[in-house]
Amino acid sequence: MKILVVGGAGYIGSHMVKQLALSNNEVITLDNLSCGYKDAVKYGELVIGDLGDNNVLNQLFNQHKFDAVMHFAAFIEVGESVINPGKYYHNNVCNTQVLLDAMVKYDIKHFIFSSTAAIFGEPQYTPINEAHPQNPINPYGRTKLMVEHMLEDYDTAYGLKSTCLRYFNAAGADPDGELGERHNPESHLVPLILQAASGRRADIKIFGQDYPTEDGTCVRDYVHINDLCEAHSLALAKMQKTGSSARYNLGNGKGFSVQQVIDTSKKVSGKDFNVVITDRRAGDPAVLVADSTLARDELNWSPKFDQLETIIETAWQWEMNFFAQ
Ligand SMILES: NC(=O)c1ccc[n+]([C@@H]2O[C@H](COP(=O)([O-])OP(=O)(O)OC[C@H]3O[C@@H](n4cnc5c(N)ncnc54)[C@H](O)[C@@H]3O)[C@@H](O)[C@H]2O)c1
Repeated sequence: MKILVVGGAGYIGSHMVKQLALSNNEVITLDNLSCGYKDAVKYGELVIGDLGDNNVLNQLFNQHKFDAVMHFAAFIEVGESVINPGKYYHNNVCNTQVLLDAMVKYDIKHFIFSSTAAIFGEPQYTPINEAHPQNPINPYGRTKLMVEHMLEDYDTAYGLKSTCLRYFNAAGADPDGELGERHNPESHLVPLILQAASGRRADIKIFGQDYPTEDGTCVRDYVHINDLCEAHSLALAKMQKTGSSARYNLGNGKGFSVQQVIDTSKKVSGKDFNVVITDRRAGDPAVLVADSTLARDELNWSPKFDQLETIIETAWQWEMNFFAQ
């Protein structure tokens, strides 16, 4: 297949590009490098351009007949989205609409969308399945939910089939050591902890140790990046077979507490580092875990790197290989 990966120079997109290319697909990445890296695109052609730029899209779609588009490009910082919502609505919603309209114009029928647990807002129950109420509590989550709604309407009106994959926490790195996480600023727990382990960061902060969880720290669901990418390939195959749109929550199903992630990181890295306990942050639920039964049943998705140690080992290998030079 010929697949366009939008945002393929970013963390998740770059792993997806690799997985698709190694499964004999022709992959083209479109990325404006606003948050991604040229050297993260190890396979296929990289077109540097903005997904909201009609000229770029016309050129791409005139030149190639894509079987599907996978869309990873977005701004992803929840805090920034509160301070500067315009930036988020513009890129995550308006630019996505430009892409969808171009797909309709060029009759490309299959779309995979990177959605998020943030569309659900404060958990009403846990683990969170697809039936959970959708009440995002920040602009980032709202931008993603808006696109999900847009996709329902584009299916009804134009027959554009989509699968929305709601990731909980993507984590880990390419087991070959070729790719990894490089957000700037970094806000994800695993790389922040490993930066403390490698000495790139003075300490790691735990925001609240008085949650109603086993050790008092927040519990989150970490899913390995390769398992996440695998779910995209399975979702695309399923969508092409059934001709139906779908939505799936993607997580490990096992929650790990912040303290457990820290303890495991110390064990895997063999390094001790400073841990600072501070107050809770507003808007952090105690437990955020996915119920991925639907994805497991309908896609036959079965995460292979589901042990916390394995997730951290691959991320640590990346931290050592890439940053310790
Ligand atoms: N990282 C996570 O744990 C997580 C969790 C839930 C959902 N998601 C979603 O997954 C997707 C990928 O996340 P990530 O962690 O890889 O982010 P990332 O920032 O590493 O990658 C995003 C990529 O998109 C590119 N991009 C952004 N705007 C663009 C535009 N207008 N035109 C072209 N390229 C553009 C950036 O340059 C970057 O390479 C995002 O949509 C995010 O909302 C991520």
